[in-house]
Amino acid sequence: MPTSQIPVITIDGPTASGKGTVAHKVADKLGYHLLDSGALYRLTALQALRRGTRLDDEHAIAKLAEHLNIHFTGEAVFLSQENVTDAIRVEEVGNTASKIAALPMVRQALFALQLSFRKTPGLVADGRDMGTVIFPHAQLKVFLTASVEARADRRYKQLIAKGISANMQDLLMDLKARDDRDMNRAVAPLAPAADAHVLDTSSMTAEEAVDQVLKWYAAVGK
Ligand code: DC
Repeated sequence: MPTSQIPVITIDGPTASGKGTVAHKVADKLGYHLLDSGALYRLTALQALRRGTRLDDEHAIAKLAEHLNIHFTGEAVFLSQENVTDAIRVEEVGNTASKIAALPMVRQALFALQLSFRKTPGLVADGRDMGTVIFPHAQLKVFLTASVEARADRRYKQLIAKGISANMQDLLMDLKARDDRDMNRAVAPLAPAADAHVLDTSSMTAEEAVDQVLKWYAAVGK
């Protein structure tokens, strides 16, 4: 099958909107591959933090992005054979990811890598610009939103469940700052594609959101 015909479902949305969970479950149900594009920005951020690369050195950070030695196994993420699944989820890495994601050369460096995830029988891609920039011809585009309070509450519970300490006020401030950066950057800002289905998950369970996405997908082309 030509790559351009391999089905793609894009799931974009702000941080902690539930898109990661929903994308995983939709991919599982359909037997599709998954692209967690945020993980690529987080991996680049982790490398930069570990190497002490200056965050305003666009060339150096783009080089790190270009040479990432990564692989995904189920829900685990490896960087040069090291399991960094938890390391990339800490808030410092998320905030740094949001900062370096504003650098055009970094986005360019990760472009081809993201396209390479499109394999048969299909792909579910989650991020900020999956439907607008990376897969503009996706069969189905979904934009998940949720109130900042609902998202902070989810993030809080996720962190506590992992044994990571968290403070609700700090989380709310971090989420707002990250939303602001992700929505207002010049390149590929977070925004729903014109043809995206928008779903507010503030008072929905992940399963309800998954069912809605699958319903929309079943209706594609009908
Ligand atoms: O989805 P996430 O929280 O893991 O993403 C981490 C950061 O990476 C997020 O703040 C913005 C950036 N990002 C992006 O700019 N474009 C994407 N497609 C995915 C993530």
